[in-house]
Amino acid sequence: MLTVALPKGRILAQAQSLLASSGLQPADPIAADDRRIVIACKDAGLRLIIVRAADVQTYVACGAAQIGLAGRDLLLDNPLAGIYQGPATALGKCRLAVAARADYDYAGRIQRGARVVVATKYPRLARNHFARVGVHAEIVRLYGSMELAPLVGLADLIVDLVETGQTLKANRLVEVEQIMPICTQVIFNQGAFLRRRTELDAIAAQLAAGADE
Ligand code: PRP
Repeated sequence: MLTVALPKGRILAQAQSLLASSGLQPADPIAADDRRIVIACKDAGLRLIIVRAADVQTYVACGAAQIGLAGRDLLLDNPLAGIYQGPATALGKCRLAVAARADYDYAGRIQRGARVVVATKYPRLARNHFARVGVHAEIVRLYGSMELAPLVGLADLIVDLVETGQTLKANRLVEVEQIMPICTQVIFNQGAFLRRRTELDAIAAQLAAGADE
């Protein structure tokens, strides 16, 4: 049996048609409000587990799943040992960006060499970015709803994922800097990859269908 760890939410929704047309097709289709966390595949040698995005790496690193889909944001911010990086997929395409309130003078603050407070769930990527651009940044670690921080005075800036820009717009925030493009990537458990490479490569190729890298 091979176990494939998939992140619930947006990526799982995007992956539905990919799964349905691949060897990973669920035995019973996944409904939008599905509460199952272990999903049998038509291929009896495969099963899917549905976990929080931030937990995919953990399941794969410890071998509870042999392969999984994880966002590059999480892989780069908190890389775990025991994982091999697989191909990029066509899923989860967005960017990591810096955003602020529309009335915040980011350029002026930087020019004056002022310190900025940045709320993010990506402390490592945010720290690296502000070091690279030479801005003195204090990082505040949050776990969600980053957009709130500049609205209530917790932070000057946020570092977060932007896909359509709707969330920023709805909260009157604007993107002031792009950091890097992000997509969802296949990851392998190292030991499993060494033992079952052919099977895992075949699954990875299906998960990466349509990717342009
Ligand atoms: C992500 C991100 C933004 C939003 C951006 O959150 O943190 O809030 O999507 O998408 P948009 O540009 O299309 O509006 P998500 O909905 O994945 O939830 P999360 O806060 O739990 O990560």
